[in-house]
Amino acid sequence: MITLREAIRLTKDFYNKTKPFKDISGYEEHEIAVGACASILASACGLDVMKAGIMGYCHDIGKMISDEKKERTFHGLTGYQYFKSIGEDELAQICLTHTFPSIDFKSEEYASYGIENIEKAKDILINIKQTDYDKIIQLSDLLVHFNGKTVIYKNMKDRMLYIENEYNVKPQHIRVKYKNAIKLKRYLENKYNCNVYKLLGIK
Ligand SMILES: [Fe+2]
Repeated sequence: MITLREAIRLTKDFYNKTKPFKDISGYEEHEIAVGACASILASACGLDVMKAGIMGYCHDIGKMISDEKKERTFHGLTGYQYFKSIGEDELAQICLTHTFPSIDFKSEEYASYGIENIEKAKDILINIKQTDYDKIIQLSDLLVHFNGKTVIYKNMKDRMLYIENEYNVKPQHIRVKYKNAIKLKRYLENKYNCNVYKLLGIK
């Protein structure tokens, strides 16, 4: 896997190219905070801290490569294709899986990313064996805001409210997302005997 130094240079290059054309305020803070949360969780789980940090730092790179609203792309798939093209399979996987704590979903739940894109993602996800690194990034991403102001949420309910408003997600789909988020948190807490909120200083 690329080093942290390479990951920072890579995302910085994309960031500088994208910044003049797209409002990406909060992007850097989000990536750094997700990377930090992932490292803290990985440490508590006895997993590779550096690897989790780099994965967290790179998981949203697709947002820098393509403007998903204008170009009707899905950043998870864009990031997956990019990292695949440079032979970084583990990072490619993280880019795709970070949006889907459960692969047993209806495409309508992610309609804002384009049904066609989600169908494509689903076809790839079926053949991916998710690891606890995938789960750590999914959970970290659920706890970190994107606007560069709040950074870490008070809890996952707050995050769900943000998703509901920002992406115009139907309440019944938000309920499914929330249920999956809680399941994800409990999975890591039970397996590794830890308290996620306590580890991250969330009250
Ligand atoms: Fe993210």
